[in-house]
Amino acid sequence: MLQGAGRGAEPPGSVARIIRDHPAAAWVNSIWVRADSPGMKVVAFNGSPRKGGNTERLLRHALSALKEEGIRTELVQIGGKKVHGCTACGKCYETRDRKCVIDNDFVNGCIEKMAEADGMILGSPTYFADVSTETKALIDRAGFVGMANGGLYARKVGAAVVAVRRAGAIHVFDTINHFFGINCMFTVGSSYWNLGIGMNPGDVEQDGEGIRTMRNLGANMAWILRKIHG
Ligand SMILES: Cc1cc2nc3c(=O)[nH]c(=O)nc-3n(C[C@H](O)[C@H](O)[C@H](O)COP(=O)(O)O)c2cc1C
Repeated sequence: MLQGAGRGAEPPGSVARIIRDHPAAAWVNSIWVRADSPGMKVVAFNGSPRKGGNTERLLRHALSALKEEGIRTELVQIGGKKVHGCTACGKCYETRDRKCVIDNDFVNGCIEKMAEADGMILGSPTYFADVSTETKALIDRAGFVGMANGGLYARKVGAAVVAVRRAGAIHVFDTINHFFGINCMFTVGSSYWNLGIGMNPGDVEQDGEGIRTMRNLGANMAWILRKIHG
């Protein structure tokens, strides 16, 4: 039984009840052993609809530092693509087939990539002091599917990357880190909170501290991955 869930308050068959009764021990059984691994991999998701914009540029700086450390990387564009939010149907807790029942957008492809990778970076622009819609849909649906399937992302490393014009980035950073925190993941930080400042596409390149933060983030991610898998 999950800590803090009210005993018996949720009606049978409700999502709250299904989650409440989910055996916590399943988390421990989920750790993958990848004997055939061709090397460690980090997948990054760009939640900005502006391809080539500030979020993507920040992500690329972090990924290039990872590549220099011998980590394989992939950048996946999700911003600007049609996506549905979580409908709270609870089907993922019934089927437990590592998929969301909504199968006509990018989320299931992302879940596969997240489950396969050793680490992930969720990048988002700051929209009204929170993540973009696409990022939130990925968090909610990939989060539920991961939990329903015994912890698909357990003991992987995760980092948030945030582009911001002026204010609200810390809330975005927190939203993303909450996803990692409830999924048994290890959150990676840097020499500043993982954000870069800029308004128009490319502005973040002028934020020297932001770029250094991204490069340090990539190096820190590589370091912890080697510690975990070394
Ligand atoms: C709908 C919308 C809401 C925004 N809200 C904020 C905000 O709350 N705080 C802020 O500093 N910038 C805000 N911005 C500016 C973006 O966060 C900023 O331009 C960022 O660099 C965009 O990243 P991108 O180039 O990857 O799209 C907003 C932009 C849009 C389009």
